[in-house]
Amino acid sequence: MAKQTRLIPSLLAATALSVAAMPTQTGTSTDEAVTAQLQDYKATMQAFGKTLKGELQAAMKAGGPMAAVQVCNERAPEIAANLNAESGHTLRRTSLKPRATAATDWERAVLEDFEARQAAGTPVGEIAWHEVKEVDGEKQLRFMQAIATEGVCLTCHGQDVDPKLKAEIDRLYPDDQATGFEEGDIRGAFSVTAALDD
Ligand code: HEC
Repeated sequence: MAKQTRLIPSLLAATALSVAAMPTQTGTSTDEAVTAQLQDYKATMQAFGKTLKGELQAAMKAGGPMAAVQVCNERAPEIAANLNAESGHTLRRTSLKPRATAATDWERAVLEDFEARQAAGTPVGEIAWHEVKEVDGEKQLRFMQAIATEGVCLTCHGQDVDPKLKAEIDRLYPDDQATGFEEGDIRGAFSVTAALDD
């Protein structure tokens, strides 16, 4: 895990500052708390991915992409909201070319670093990042993990989306930027945040 999480310099500096400002914290207990909490985050991400993919495939089979688009539109935010209520995490998916969820400034910086890491040869499945950051007096654990574009995603995120389907996507998302991807591209990332439980 450690070798997969490379902090980008500006965020590294910010982390070093916020950690230095907390003299009561021993490095070891924080490290253990971070490791444990990242495992919980991964469970939430996996539950999201499994549920959405299952519903997406079922809708695709039953009603084709026009039905499946409704699943992504309605169910993706609901599944995330349900998991967040259960876990106390804030999980979302975002992208440099978003359909529904634009990146915040720090998410954008991490996504740009992810692109650079992929360009340097790191497989998308291994690209992740985290930091402990003090926000409004609370220590938060921020985590992001890259999401690869697979063949099945191209129907709605690829280079030649069926015009009828694209019209429906544009009706739902007038500012849609999430087309033109190729298999293997970074489609976006999971972003998970919660108070650090240490
Ligand atoms: C049937 C059409 C459809 C397919 C197939 C599809 N998506 Fe999406 N995708 C959407 C829609 C609609 C949204 C916006 C829903 C939301 O996240 O609120 C979306 C949003 C996303 C987001 C959130 C970031 C953003 O752009 O707002 C990611 C990441 C994403 N999709 C990745 C994938 C991946 C990876 C696959 C393949 C495994 C995939 N999608 C397959 C329609 C689709």
